[in-house]
Amino acid sequence: MNFRVLAGMPTSETEMVLSARFDELSTADLVASRGSTATLIEAAGEFPEIDVVLIHQDLGPAPVFDAIRDLSHRHPQLAVLLVSTTMDSDTFTAAMEAGARGVLPADSGIAELETRVTKAAEWSRTLRRHLESASLELPVSGVRGRVVTVSGAKGGVGTTTCAVQLAGPAAAEGRVVCLVDLDLQTGDLPAFLNLRHRRSISDLVEAGDEITPGMLSETLYVDPRGPHVLLAPEHGERGEDVSARAARRVLTALRSRYELVLVDCGSTMNEATAMAVEMADRSVVTVTPDVPATRGAQRLTALWERLQIRAQSDVFTLVTRHSRKNEIQPDFLRQLLGTQVLRTPIPASYRALEPGENNGDPTKVTDEGLRKAFSRAASELELSTPPEAAQAGAGKGSAPTPPDGAPAAAGSPSTRDVSGFLDASVGGGRPGNGRGPGTHGTGGFGG
Ligand SMILES: Nc1ncnc2c1ncn2[C@@H]1O[C@H](COP(=O)(O)OP(=O)(O)O)[C@@H](O)[C@H]1O
Ligand SMILES: [Mg+2]
Repeated sequence: MNFRVLAGMPTSETEMVLSARFDELSTADLVASRGSTATLIEAAGEFPEIDVVLIHQDLGPAPVFDAIRDLSHRHPQLAVLLVSTTMDSDTFTAAMEAGARGVLPADSGIAELETRVTKAAEWSRTLRRHLESASLELPVSGVRGRVVTVSGAKGGVGTTTCAVQLAGPAAAEGRVVCLVDLDLQTGDLPAFLNLRHRRSISDLVEAGDEITPGMLSETLYVDPRGPHVLLAPEHGERGEDVSARAARRVLTALRSRYELVLVDCGSTMNEATAMAVEMADRSVVTVTPDVPATRGAQRLTALWERLQIRAQSDVFTLVTRHSRKNEIQPDFLRQLLGTQVLRTPIPASYRALEPGENNGDPTKVTDEGLRKAFSRAASELELSTPPEAAQAGAGKGSAPTPPDGAPAAAGSPSTRDVSGFLDASVGGGRPGNGRGPGTHGTGGFGG
């Protein structure tokens, strides 16, 4: 396809000269020409896929450099060339400062015109491609996403179960969610989600200071239809490479691309999880209603407080394996722990979790009580709309933009397929690079 050029020429004479020259060019077309700064700026927004704007120095009524500034601000991918009769250094400097790609002498011959326009257009196309691929590979929500950590009072209390199930309601609403396995030694998200993927947080740590969107999409298990997943290192010893600084870099990069970054911190405190808890908008500690776990929760949150990572009063405790028959009830924990305790406990339900775990598919957990509990806990943490409000169809407020760019209806059932997590063959895993979505499965993940 020929390069597409838009021109702003002050007089019909200059316009005719230019279009006569373009008639001779085989690589570029003059799509339109406008006689004022205002109409030129308008046209730049109307014509699709313009590559180059030629703007004559004498174009008015607005000062030409203001118009260039305006154009490059609104359309950063456009290559603007100033057509000038005075090729002095002041003009050149002013043009570049306003955002032009270069200055073209008004009396340029056809060859020069062709060379300059081609170069500028190639630059524009490259930039546009970069911008587009960045926005396609990963969602750009345009806002700073929230980081929420989930830590275990001790091992085995159900931290990963909770992290995975809390991501469900948010993702099912169309939120752009990333699950991070920061349980660096014993992370087991791949088993929970039945996914196989080579890349992990180690790859991002190696990447150094600048984590680009391209690196994220290379490294994450990317399924545009469900939560994306950043895995823990395959070999536990690599976990030590994830310093506080590295963790901060990774989470900062993720929160610039995801609305919700849900981090499974496991039950060991290290530099990386401390950083995650410090950075988090919300921090959750999962605790089972028994003395060892309660002691563990106290120990962990007191440590956070002492190290000024997070005040105990700013921690949310999520009680799991709750049952009315337990000796220890949530109210007691509320008094005992200096943290906030979520009103919704997660019921003890070994059987109901089994289908999810054995299939590596969280959506296979269909028990109503359990699903409701996770939904309510998610909305208490403001990860999703309360289930009641969602049912009432209260889809008010700003709708988030899922990665495919289609508007999501907040509060309504997700239209997103999450089959990336839905490979139900036990122990099968997915062949290939494990990045593609599976083919089975319907319905929302969680919700
Ligand atoms: N609410 C619950 N009721 C009963 N069992 C649970 C519950 N939550 C988790 N479990 C079980 O506890 C075990 C450990 O869960 P997991 O999420 O891996 O814990 P952690 O991440 O804290 O080590 C799993 O076998 C899981 O089925
Ligand atoms: Mg775990």
